[in-house]
Amino acid sequence: MRYRSQSVAYGYFAVAMVLFGLQLVFGLLSAAKYLGPDSLLYILPFDVTKVVHTNLLIVWVLTGFMGATYWMVPDESRTELHSVKIAYIQLILWTLMGVSAVVGYLFRYGTGNKLLEQPLPHKIVIVICMLLFLYNVGMTIWKSRRFTTTEGVLVLGLGLAALLYLPALLEYENYTVSIFYRWWTIHLWVEGVWEMIQGGFLAYLLIRLSGADREVMEKWLYVIVGLVLIAGILGTAHHYYWVGVPAYWLPIGGIFSALEPLALIGMAIYAYSAMRRSGLAHPNTLALHWTIGSTVFTLFGAGLLGLAHTFPDVNKWTHGTLITAMHGHAAFYGAYAMIVLAMITFALPTMTPGRSERGSSIGYWAFWMQLGGMFGMTLSFATAGIAQVYLERILGMGYLDVQLKIQVHFLMLLATASLFSVGVGLFIFDFFRYAPRFDVGNEKQPTLRPDTVRPAPIS
Ligand code: HEM
Ligand code: HEM
Ligand SMILES: [Fe+2]
Repeated sequence: MRYRSQSVAYGYFAVAMVLFGLQLVFGLLSAAKYLGPDSLLYILPFDVTKVVHTNLLIVWVLTGFMGATYWMVPDESRTELHSVKIAYIQLILWTLMGVSAVVGYLFRYGTGNKLLEQPLPHKIVIVICMLLFLYNVGMTIWKSRRFTTTEGVLVLGLGLAALLYLPALLEYENYTVSIFYRWWTIHLWVEGVWEMIQGGFLAYLLIRLSGADREVMEKWLYVIVGLVLIAGILGTAHHYYWVGVPAYWLPIGGIFSALEPLALIGMAIYAYSAMRRSGLAHPNTLALHWTIGSTVFTLFGAGLLGLAHTFPDVNKWTHGTLITAMHGHAAFYGAYAMIVLAMITFALPTMTPGRSERGSSIGYWAFWMQLGGMFGMTLSFATAGIAQVYLERILGMGYLDVQLKIQVHFLMLLATASLFSVGVGLFIFDFFRYAPRFDVGNEKQPTLRPDTVRPAPIS
C-alpha cells in the first residue's frame, strides 16, 4: 500500500464479500424451486428470490468497483484520497441502501422493473452515493494534477454509469416505452460503460502485474474502448426486436451487436500479449490468474454465448428462455465478478500482513472451483435452455410440462452451483482469515523474469 487512504478499499471489499455470499444463497434457493416441492412458496416465492439474487449481484459488484477505484486512483494519481470521511459515509449509506432494498423485496416493496426494482427513495440514495463517490474521486485527481489514461477510462466509465442510471428514475405509462428506456440503463451498462470500467481495471492490473509498457497498454485501451462504444451503442437494438418498436431495429440490432465480440476478442489478446511480452513478473500470480481469467471468461460468456442468440432469426426462439440465463451468468461472472475478484486479490496482500503475496493454495482452489463450477452452471442452463426452446417454442408444449421434462438439467445446475459456491466460500474465507493492518510502503515490486535475462554478448 503506497497511500494510507487506500485502506478504505478494504471496507468496500469486505461488504462486497458478504453480499456475494448472500447472493449465492438466493441463487441456490431460486434453483431449488425449479425442482420442487417448494415449501417456501407463500413466504419466499421464485420472483422474490430471483429479485434478491440479481439485486445483490448488482450491489456487490458496484461495491467492488467503488472499493477498487478508491484503491487504484491514489496509486495512479500518486496522492492520498481527497476525503476518507466521505468515502466511509458513502459506504455506510450505500450498504444501508442495499440491505434495506433487499429487506423491502422480502415484503414485496419494489418497482417490478427487472434489475431496476429499487423503489424511488432507494434510487435517490443511489444517486447521492454516486455523486459523493464521483466528487471524491474527481477532487483527488484534480488536486493531484496527475491524470493517467487508465484512470481516465475508469472514471469516464463510472461517470457514464451514473448518468445512465437516470432513465431508471422515471416511470413510464406505456410498457413499450418503459422497456425501451430500461435498456438504456441495463444494456448500455453491461455492454458499454461497465466494459470501460473493466478495461480501466484491466490496464492497471496488467501494467502492475506484468510490467507492460504503460504507453503501449494505454494506446490499445483506446482502441478497445472505441470498439466497445461503436458496436455497443447501436447494439442496444438487440433488445428491441420484440417489444413493439418499428421493424428497422431488427437489422440494426443484428449487425451492430454481432460486432460487439470484436472488442472482447481485443481485450483477451491485449491481456495475453501483455503477459507474454513483458519482461517483469509480479509475485502475485494469483491476481494474474483472475485478471487473464476475466478476459477469457468474458470472451466465452459475453462474446461467444452473447453472439449465439443475438441475431433476430435465433432470438425469436430463444428470447427470455434459459438460454438468456446461460449467457447472463457466464457474461456477468467473467466480466464483472472476476475483475472485482482480481482487484481484491491484487490489493489484499498489502492490507493484510501475513498473507503470501503469491496467493495461498486455498486461493487457487477458490479460483479453479469457481471457474469449473461456473462453466458447469453455464452448460446446465444451456442444455436446459436448448430443450426448453425445442419443446416449448418449436413443438408447442405447455410451459409447465416442459419444466418437468428439463428437471434433470436443474440437478446438474445444483451440483455445479454447489461446486461454485464452495469456491466462493473459500475465497471469502481466505479474504477474512488475515486481520487487516494498514502499513504504508509495503508493496512488492515486480522482478525481472528469468527467461528475459539474456547472456552477456561474446566480445
Ligand atoms: C459483459 C458483457 C455482457 C453481460 C454482463 C451481459 C449480460 C446479460 C444479461 C444479464 C442479460 C439478460 C437481461 C435481461 O433480460 O434483463 C442479457 C441479455 C442479452 N445479451 Fe448480454 N451481456 C453481455 C454481453 C453481450 C454481448 C457481447 C452480446 C452479443 C454479442 C449479448 C447478447 C445478449 C442478447 C441478445 C440478450 C437478450 C436475450 C433475450 O432475448 O432474452 N450480450 N445479457
Ligand atoms: C450458487 C450459484 C448460483 C445459482 C444456483 C444461481 C441460480 C440462478 C437462477 C435459478 C436464476 C433464475 C433463472 C430464471 O429466471 O429462470 C438466476 C438468475 C440470474 N443469476 Fe444466478 N445463480 C448463481 C450465481 C450467480 C452468479 C455468480 C451470477 C453473476 C456473477 C449470477 C447472475 C444471475 C443473473 C444475471 C440472473 C438473471 C438472468 C436472467 O434473468 O436472464 N448468478 N440465477
Ligand atoms: Fe444487450
